[in-house]
Amino acid sequence: MTTKTDTLLDAKRPLLKTPLPGPQARRIVELDQRHVSPSYTRSYPLVARRGRGAMIEDVDGNLFLDFSAGIAVVATGHCHPEVVAAIQQQAGELLHMSGTDFYYEHLVTLAEKLEAITPGNFPKRVFYANSGTEAVEAAVKLARYATGRPYLIAFHGCFHGRTLGSLSLTASKPVQRERFAPLLPGVFHAPYSYPYRCPVGAPPEDCARACLRYLEETILRTSVPPSEVAAVIVEPVQGEGGYVFPPAEFLVGLERICRGHGMLLIADEVQSGMGRTGKWWAFEHAGITPDILCVAKGIASGMPLGITIAAAELMNWKPGAHASTFGGNPVSIAAAQVTIRLLENGLMENARRLGDYILKRLADWPQRHRLVGEVRGRGLMVALELVRDKKTKERASTERDRVVEAAFERGLLVLGCGPNTLRLMPPLVIDPEQADCALDILEDALTQVEKEVG
Ligand SMILES: Cc1ncc(COP(=O)(O)O)c(C=O)c1O
Repeated sequence: MTTKTDTLLDAKRPLLKTPLPGPQARRIVELDQRHVSPSYTRSYPLVARRGRGAMIEDVDGNLFLDFSAGIAVVATGHCHPEVVAAIQQQAGELLHMSGTDFYYEHLVTLAEKLEAITPGNFPKRVFYANSGTEAVEAAVKLARYATGRPYLIAFHGCFHGRTLGSLSLTASKPVQRERFAPLLPGVFHAPYSYPYRCPVGAPPEDCARACLRYLEETILRTSVPPSEVAAVIVEPVQGEGGYVFPPAEFLVGLERICRGHGMLLIADEVQSGMGRTGKWWAFEHAGITPDILCVAKGIASGMPLGITIAAAELMNWKPGAHASTFGGNPVSIAAAQVTIRLLENGLMENARRLGDYILKRLADWPQRHRLVGEVRGRGLMVALELVRDKKTKERASTERDRVVEAAFERGLLVLGCGPNTLRLMPPLVIDPEQADCALDILEDALTQVEKEVG
């Protein structure tokens, strides 16, 4: 059914009708501040009412172009009609039964599909949960269970979730850990290859090798015996930590080190997976095969679903060892099945094509904009790192926050990541017109902030 307002939601560009926030948005933000946990991190007062494709309509009828995709979740866009239809149909048949205690076919159908689209020519098994952090919890428990080893290695800058196990791995921002100790013991953090700011001080071209050397020659030689390490967990692209893309050599080296010591390699693809980088999984660009894979966010286009995939011989734990009441909910799985079909029938290719287009347009921004230190990305996972000085690379954190706000004031929804990086993670359905519109707005916002800071 097409109504006047639906036509608006099919629009390609923002349309602001009220000053922001509008009266309804102001009312809801005030109530939210009274009733909802203040631990959430809202960058600006967007109060969403409806969504379609890459557009969001707020409660005052303002239209925004969404380059956040609900934090990399609505892979197929907001309320894709085929996803909505599948959800509605499934909701009328079976809402819940609990895969922990009963069988239903959805669990099998999606597991077979995931097995087919995940590298590694061996039988696999799938564990179902509801969120990214639970997918990571399951991976960590499985790694310990399967190896009988206690220790874990994660990376500086990583984000793996906020439940206490995942939080023990997360090393992205101190506020995420402050006052929550004691965390899981036995977690060691290693330097993550970040060529623009190599954490071990190596030049960009040597950063991957230098970080691997630090892991092998310092951490595994002085701090933890490799024979007692269950797993190394890595984001193939660091998400919350700042959209950091390590060279392929870094991931290949990690795989080699893990194999050499019988440590499992866990890839956390919660943010970088589901076609966002132009392949199903970001680790595929490096040609590696992790032992355990964590998936969530984009997999069900907005329905909650977290998944842990491993070789069948590895995921061989006893009944009762791990489970979840809601995990693998049939409605979420129905959404995931349509999401996967849409991704393989064009959206993943669109992510690759539009990502190339956006990166091409952004390529000269570091020359043209004094706040832009580096542009990096792959597919529709794109970042601009803002700095006050191109030589010292002093982080332009407040300026980044201002650009995010200034973009919102112009009807573009973007978010930051890391201390001073701005990320573009639109739904995979965007078209060139929307990409151009977003970049025009962003450039305008950036130019304004550059003028503000003099
Ligand atoms: C790489 C990564 N892992 C895990 C998580 C946690 O996911 P969730 O918020 O669904 O628990 C996130 C969330 O941003 C993430 O980016």
